[in-house]
Amino acid sequence: MYIFKVGHFLISLSLHVIYFFSIVERKLKAGNGSPSIHDFSEVEKNQFRSSLLAWYDEKKRDLPWRKQALNPDINQRAYAVWVSEIMLQQTQVATVISYYNRWMEKWPRLQDLAKVDLEEVNELWSGLGYYSRGRRLHEGAKKVVEELNGEMPKTADDLQKLLPGVGRYTAGAIASIAYNQVTGLVDGNVIRVMCRMRMMGGDSTGQAVQDKLWSHANSVVDPERPGDFNQGMMELGATVCTPKSPSCDSCPVKHICLAYSQVEQEKQKSAKKILTNNNNIITDIECLTDNCPLCFQDDNTWEPSNGVENYPRKGKKKAAREERTDVCILCQKGHDSKDQYLIVQRPNKGLLAGMWEFPSLLQTEESENPIETVLDKACGASLRTTGQRQHIGEVVHIFSHIHQTYVIQAITVEEGEVTLDTEQPPSRWVSKEEFLECAVSTGMKKVLKAFESVLSPKSSSNKKNKKTASKPDDKQRSISCFFKPKSSS
Ligand code: ADE
Repeated sequence: MYIFKVGHFLISLSLHVIYFFSIVERKLKAGNGSPSIHDFSEVEKNQFRSSLLAWYDEKKRDLPWRKQALNPDINQRAYAVWVSEIMLQQTQVATVISYYNRWMEKWPRLQDLAKVDLEEVNELWSGLGYYSRGRRLHEGAKKVVEELNGEMPKTADDLQKLLPGVGRYTAGAIASIAYNQVTGLVDGNVIRVMCRMRMMGGDSTGQAVQDKLWSHANSVVDPERPGDFNQGMMELGATVCTPKSPSCDSCPVKHICLAYSQVEQEKQKSAKKILTNNNNIITDIECLTDNCPLCFQDDNTWEPSNGVENYPRKGKKKAAREERTDVCILCQKGHDSKDQYLIVQRPNKGLLAGMWEFPSLLQTEESENPIETVLDKACGASLRTTGQRQHIGEVVHIFSHIHQTYVIQAITVEEGEVTLDTEQPPSRWVSKEEFLECAVSTGMKKVLKAFESVLSPKSSSNKKNKKTASKPDDKQRSISCFFKPKSSS
């Protein structure tokens, strides 16, 4: 018994000693400049380039800007890529295609864009969102024509320095795709692909991960075909390495993807295929650096059921600001008995700068503004009648940082019953068709749809907005009372 106990103690001691020295060895290696799991070896970089490019050549989508990027004129190429990359920021490829085609048909050259008014740009951009993008493109085109002799800046650094709205990503895209400059880029797709490939679970918006991503992007980019490589990475992120349910089996770079390897190993382990003798141990892939800022932080850890979707991680997003805005649809029966609506132009700065909208006023307290106040403050309009009024309902529109609720009232008057103060922001009467063609935001188009769905609920195809007019509300009235003047109190 005594011998057994001593034997057990010695075995246990020797295992602890071995374990201790293996840890020391790993730490020494990690501190010795040995490759970190978050880095690519030269062999991996070469495999990455050749596999991705072969896949891209075979699978790339036929997108209109890709043909434009072959134009023999270098400035034209850069312009075409610039427009596409600005439109693609925060917007899906499928949405961008028709806007891009209309834009290039209308303004095929930089010089064409530089000549037009911002109003026309806003009109074409209507519905695409983030309107400052169109404004900056227009400003940039004017700058290139008026100050740079029609020559687009020729490096990523200069593009970023000289063109408004062109950040590091867009500069890298234009330079690599249009000029073949060997420079990388990082967008949302690249973040996902890289974080998965190198198991980076730290906050992907934080400095440490961002620096690493840019460093990887610049070092793995193919020196012969940088534009195709960059587009290949984005294409891979958009079509295969997707945020949810990625298609790992058809991924061309799965053989060098650590998140994929980790998932495969776990599958093997759970199938009890893993052999535990020393020759066959399959070790977990783990980072050996203490407090590595690229690894999961705080309470985050690898969650097996999420597979590769464990990456990337984002820090907590700031909650969107809640706003409620009263909107007044002022409808006038024109002499041709066609309805006309009053619209007002927003200021030239800030959210939706220069866009048109129905007279609107932010609620500063919890209560709604009376229609008269909305009309007066938004455009100096005053009514000489109580008109025919109706509470339409609410629609919600999400901007990047604002959760906006439009509280809609409608009022119908006869021609000549509205006085407009000419000192106020520009306003005008438009037909429904004109409204839809002018520079109005998607939020305002939703407001019009809600109005129409209340006027003729059966013909309205806007199912989503049905709820807009259905908020239980004692002010809600039926269609039949739409033409009953509201008693003024
Ligand atoms: N996303 C943004 N730009 C892109 C491009 N050029 N190709 C594929 N996806 C993209």
